Amino acid sequence: MEKYYIGIDLGTSAVKLLLVEKNGSIVREVLKEYPCDYPHPGWSEQDPEVWIKETFEGVRQLIEGLDPQMVRGIGTAGQMHGLVALDENDAVIRPAILWNDGRTGKETAYLNEVIGKNVLSDCTGNIAFAGFTAPKILWMRDNEPELFARIRKVMLPKDYLNYKLTGVFSTDVSDASGTLFFDVANKCWSEKMLQICSLREEQLPQVYESAAVTGTLTPDAADALGLSKDTFVIAGAGDNAASAIGTGTITEGTCNISLGTSGTIFLPGDTFRVDQNNSLHSFAHANGKFHLLGCMLSCASCNKWLLEEVFGTQDYDRELDIPLEQLGKNHVYFLPYLMGERSPINDENARAAFIGMTMDTSRKDLVQAVLEGVAFAFRDSLEAAKAMGLTVLRSNLSGRGGRNPVWRKILAAVLNIRLDILQTEQGPGLGAAMLAMVADGTYGSVEEACESIVQIKETIDPDPELAVLYQKRYKEFQQLYPALKDVFRRMSEAE
Ligand code: XUL
Repeated sequence: MEKYYIGIDLGTSAVKLLLVEKNGSIVREVLKEYPCDYPHPGWSEQDPEVWIKETFEGVRQLIEGLDPQMVRGIGTAGQMHGLVALDENDAVIRPAILWNDGRTGKETAYLNEVIGKNVLSDCTGNIAFAGFTAPKILWMRDNEPELFARIRKVMLPKDYLNYKLTGVFSTDVSDASGTLFFDVANKCWSEKMLQICSLREEQLPQVYESAAVTGTLTPDAADALGLSKDTFVIAGAGDNAASAIGTGTITEGTCNISLGTSGTIFLPGDTFRVDQNNSLHSFAHANGKFHLLGCMLSCASCNKWLLEEVFGTQDYDRELDIPLEQLGKNHVYFLPYLMGERSPINDENARAAFIGMTMDTSRKDLVQAVLEGVAFAFRDSLEAAKAMGLTVLRSNLSGRGGRNPVWRKILAAVLNIRLDILQTEQGPGLGAAMLAMVADGTYGSVEEACESIVQIKETIDPDPELAVLYQKRYKEFQQLYPALKDVFRRMSEAE
């Protein structure tokens, strides 16, 4: 009997579900979109019950007409850092506060400045960023004390899904890394950080390596999904680590750039390393090792915002059809900080801006400026990696933004590196399914799974002339945020 695995990517704009054969072929896929709520400028929330409803419906669609015995196991990947808090009856206490939520400026400053970056970095390998889980816990403690007092379980988004599937309170090392109460180097909860955050260890899940089986479906979940209750579930991974598995980004010297709602640059390492400015995150990888991560909060979401919210269109093909001879010549700049920014500037007050418009600025110039602004912001994180002595000559390119040929060309030239496009674009979902295959013994190791499954489809070389033009424009881009930083802070204080 054919063996299938389900890979689930619990994203910010949608849950993406894949039915995957053991050779990595994607047999079926289902996408279920859901909204993100912005109840206040800079805040970002979702209802965890919506994730569960959409995911369960999605699984049912995915396996329709299939013999349930053919599905061996489920691997989940998910948006990182989100705070899901449950009470003593396992009820969700408040909407989840997401990774791109910037409400915790005060708490982040307290952690970095009063507790001190050195202490945080010694305990966890990281400093505080507004989107991490620890500042959210402090925000809830100080702003919603009655709700905070009811917390019995603290979870990350995909861990809530896993809990609904198996009844097991678990997380994995890669996702735990983004809480800022996980000691990444030693892969355990940090006692000192728990104390700082007024948390007790029993409120936190047990931590597993990503490919570890944590349980099987509960009878209720099996029934609701139409699957066998012998279907196993693994601990899974944060979406970036899972995407790195799905794109074969597991050895030192490789890189994965993902153009999703967030933009990330993922650099695996054999050993645990910390950037001395902590502008890149030091997290555990889903293959048992470690990685560095630069995360930009608004990436493909910048296009989505301009096209859908501002222009009122969904015609991406038409809007993104930018003449190639225009590349490198735009007079408009865009700062992509629609939700503040994480890497490398770490400023939740930063705001987006179009700069340099004139009477002849066209709609296309604005679209192009957005694609270029995101690429320049990626370059900022790449420069942080280079400053650590890392050489990045090529990278995988994944995420839905990576499908656009103009954006690919801009990115290759701005970053001045080769970009590999892979046969399968579904990074996190495929990676999660591959981890389930490793758990099942279909592959002896993550390395073996990547070697057998991941294939390069196309390579984009940087155009040398364009790289020179963009180098000049990048130098100008670098001046813009420092010039506006104080204005952004004042604007945010007035909100
Ligand atoms: C990584 C991060 C984002 C989310 C997006 O640190 O915050 O990439 O994981 O889902």
